[in-house]
Amino acid sequence: MTATTIEAGDRPLLFPPGFVWGAATAAYQIEGAAREDGRGPSIWDTFARRPGAVAGGDTGDVACDHYHRHRDDIALMAELGLPAYRFSVSWPRVRPDGAGPVNPRGLAFYDRLVDELLEAGITPYATLYHWDLPQALEDRGGWTERDTALRFAEYAGVVHDLLADRVATWTTVNEPWVAAFLGYGSGVHAPGRTSARDAFRAAHHLLLAHGLATGVLREGGARQISLTLNLAPVPTPGAPGDAADAAADLVDALLNRQFLDPVLRGRYPGPVLEQVDRAAGLGHIAAGDLAVISEPIDLLGINYYNPTYVAASPGAPENPAFPGSRGIAFLPAEPPLTAMGWPIDPDGLTELLVRLDRDYPGVPLIVTENGAAFDDVPGPDGRVRDPFRIGYLDGHLRAAHAALAAGVDLRGYLVWSLLDNFEWAEGYGKRFGLVYVDYVDQRRLPKDSAHWFRDVIARNGLGG
Ligand code: NOJ
Repeated sequence: MTATTIEAGDRPLLFPPGFVWGAATAAYQIEGAAREDGRGPSIWDTFARRPGAVAGGDTGDVACDHYHRHRDDIALMAELGLPAYRFSVSWPRVRPDGAGPVNPRGLAFYDRLVDELLEAGITPYATLYHWDLPQALEDRGGWTERDTALRFAEYAGVVHDLLADRVATWTTVNEPWVAAFLGYGSGVHAPGRTSARDAFRAAHHLLLAHGLATGVLREGGARQISLTLNLAPVPTPGAPGDAADAAADLVDALLNRQFLDPVLRGRYPGPVLEQVDRAAGLGHIAAGDLAVISEPIDLLGINYYNPTYVAASPGAPENPAFPGSRGIAFLPAEPPLTAMGWPIDPDGLTELLVRLDRDYPGVPLIVTENGAAFDDVPGPDGRVRDPFRIGYLDGHLRAAHAALAAGVDLRGYLVWSLLDNFEWAEGYGKRFGLVYVDYVDQRRLPKDSAHWFRDVIARNGLGG
């Protein structure tokens, strides 16, 4: 463990009244019940079976068995005093082949889940796409094809019709950069394709899916529509215009502005268009798409984990998650690190929030994910002591507070994650939860951080 320098700060800080506190999960990472009640296969079911794709050969077949344990999990959320819970709806549960008949049993699960959350006094935040594309759609080209965006908008309408009377806040797509560039570019995530052309096409169609779904939801009366982006500062190591500065600018364009600009300004940034044209041509971007993609949203969700550090390095090969990055080195992270090997840099969150507020004014922000994996182990007394996670969360809450103090319209903060869960290509080995999950018997053990967070919520801030 390297995060020894992270300690809780000691300045008491209160958040604004009405600030939203909560925790987040995603369907494939927690539900399990992969073949139950008519659920169809998703690209993650397929990918997880590919030898070597996921650490330890883990799959989401059982995960946290939340599909069967949702009542207990909601009781636990209530005990932990969580006012809000962000979950995702599994597209292949609702429409098993992505385009054909709707599966009433799949829909019924989310109907119950939302009712139970509301009975427990917890506000549901629903995400419509958290990476579990129906395999049948991937077989027809997946996100590289425009049709997938059209099918997504239909599915979004089905779920919204069912839950709109009880769910106010909707997220269309979670982290389109990851879905496109790890799924279709580097191949580290499902569906495991490795083509810059496919990745850029996927990115555009994910944005289009967001825009089309936004139109459908708006038509259906939705008033809190968002999408969630994984954003990161890319510190500029050089002087304006030099090679290091240009490297940081290209990576920032690919990671951040490729998504922010179309949604919030109705255009792709120039450096992105150049790369798209080079790798994929521009034929998949139809006239009118950017108008759809830039339909106004009500809230922008931000998943922040760490900055991305780069330098100019002639001879560095292209990083397939960043097409066009030949000659750019992605620098190894400096300690303190989490168990993912990710650097811990709370100031990056303040910087990011202040920048978003400055460059894209007028859109309220919410942190839809922030958190850390550490190698948690229950003690003989069953207690899970996770001081590093408490330090991580404390630091990032102070960073969020600094952004508020600078005038940023930040509406809430959701921890990733409620439960330890299936961490994609890393399998179950990486534990992000406030609650420890014993995968042998599915026992839930709230970690010290869960109790700490309950106190933060209760006093609407950090004590001295
Ligand atoms: C972002 C993703 O949305 C979530 O699914 C993932 O588990 C966390 N980051 C941690 O990697």
